[in-house]
Amino acid sequence: MATSSNHLLISCILFFFLSIAPSQSQPSFRPKALILPVTKDPSTLQYLTQINQRTPLVPVKLTLDLGGQYLWVDCEQGYVSSSYKPARCRSAQCSLANSKSCTTECFSSPKPGCNNNTCGLLPGNTVTQTATSGDLGQDVVSIQSTTGSNPGQIVKVPNFLFTCGSTFLLEGLAKGVKGMAGLGRNKIAMPSRFSAAFSFHRKFAVCLSSAKGVVFFGDGPYVMLPKIDISKSLIYTPLILNKVSTAAAYFEGDPSSDYFIGVTSIKINNKIVPLNTTLLKINQEGFGGTKISTVQPYTVLETSIHRAVIASFAKQLSGVPIVAGVSPFELCYNATAIGSTRVGPAVPQIDLVLQSSKVFWRIFGANSMVQVKGDVLCLGVVDGGVNPRTSIVIGGHQVEDNLLQFDLAASRLGFSSSLLFRQTTCANFNFTSNV
Ligand SMILES: *[C@@H]1O[C@H](CO)[C@@H](O)[C@H](O)[C@H]1NC(C)=O
Ligand SMILES: *[C@@H]1O[C@H](CO)[C@@H](O)[C@H](O)[C@H]1NC(C)=O
Ligand SMILES: *[C@@H]1O[C@H](CO)[C@@H](O)[C@H](O)[C@H]1NC(C)=O
Ligand SMILES: *[C@@H]1O[C@H](CO)[C@@H](O)[C@H](O)[C@H]1NC(C)=O
Repeated sequence: MATSSNHLLISCILFFFLSIAPSQSQPSFRPKALILPVTKDPSTLQYLTQINQRTPLVPVKLTLDLGGQYLWVDCEQGYVSSSYKPARCRSAQCSLANSKSCTTECFSSPKPGCNNNTCGLLPGNTVTQTATSGDLGQDVVSIQSTTGSNPGQIVKVPNFLFTCGSTFLLEGLAKGVKGMAGLGRNKIAMPSRFSAAFSFHRKFAVCLSSAKGVVFFGDGPYVMLPKIDISKSLIYTPLILNKVSTAAAYFEGDPSSDYFIGVTSIKINNKIVPLNTTLLKINQEGFGGTKISTVQPYTVLETSIHRAVIASFAKQLSGVPIVAGVSPFELCYNATAIGSTRVGPAVPQIDLVLQSSKVFWRIFGANSMVQVKGDVLCLGVVDGGVNPRTSIVIGGHQVEDNLLQFDLAASRLGFSSSLLFRQTTCANFNFTSNV
């Protein structure tokens, strides 16, 4: 008897919730995934996207920053919105953001980026490694939903968290850009915020190309024409947390919002490149390891790794005439002597070996080589100097036409390797809306 009356009680509570829920939440439509279109700026090689924000809504152009801490925009110039809300010190938003500062008084008339009793963060331009302090705030954003194959209905997020940057912080970003779209692993970065707004999986995927690309927030399917669901065939590797922030400015104790993976060795044509493997691990101070970046156009390697990779690659591609290096690249070839394949120039494959010898990220010619002139092809890696913060930074050119899925809950990366093998590319998302 006791059990059935408990059931009755539970059903009453459920009924109560069910009956009030529809009137509280926004009407009916809840997306399972969202998309942002991406383009590549030819002069800066930055990947750009656009969101609609504020009331009235305006398009805001942003540089995509895979490891970025959060969305930040310039609030100093041209930020007009009736729906902007500053995050009050000690509010839930400030603790979510782990803010350690509070502006008690801003000596000016109130406006976005200048309000009394508002908590602050340290927004950074990760291209130039400059940072400043800025207020945490919220405003409306609107974005397109997707079922995986086309853009769908547009949805609004009423109180989307972001940080106010300053105009000077835009220096070094592409023309017309007003901030950076941070997709990092922390709780206030865009992927976690969108997942929280619509209670979908804490997953997102990035598929970049030299033309158009796409970011998916939420789980797959991730469909590229001709109707290939890339989410079905990914290789997985754990994401590694770097306990020390890699941002330009940060509060002591902040972890890094960058995505690190555990590269254990590098092979070129299946031959191990001799490296100092200590550099592949992240040390106590947060130095070393391998991360993925969309603000570095090419892979950046610590000096000794760079030297070793270049020497091994040159040894494996010995039949082809070497020509003078073209900055920032050192190893360049006469392209007329290199054949071509479906996955780009016919050159030795480079494997980033991960958690076991069977799990590796294979890089083919389309991603390893850069055509700098009609007849010159260079190995697209650059020297990152001695003692850099991160030993290997996998850059934009190396991830183009590869789909990368970041699963924040499971802390793992799924990667597709080159989509060119599957006769598609990251530019093949069908952006024709079906609503
Ligand atoms: C902050 O508070 C002071 C004192 O109450 C007031 O004079 C000032 O206008 C306020 N500034 C902002 C930006 O709200
Ligand atoms: C390997 O790299 C570590 C970290 O930079 C350095 O301390 C060590 O001396 C290096 N070992 C060799 C053999 O070069
Ligand atoms: C590449 O080789 C071709 C054919 O031998 C030659 O005409 C051309 O000048 C070479 N280009 C460079 C950059 O060396
Ligand atoms: C792209 O999507 C639209 C809308 O669903 C559809 O009409 C069109 O046929 C698709 N394009 C291709 C190439 O499949």
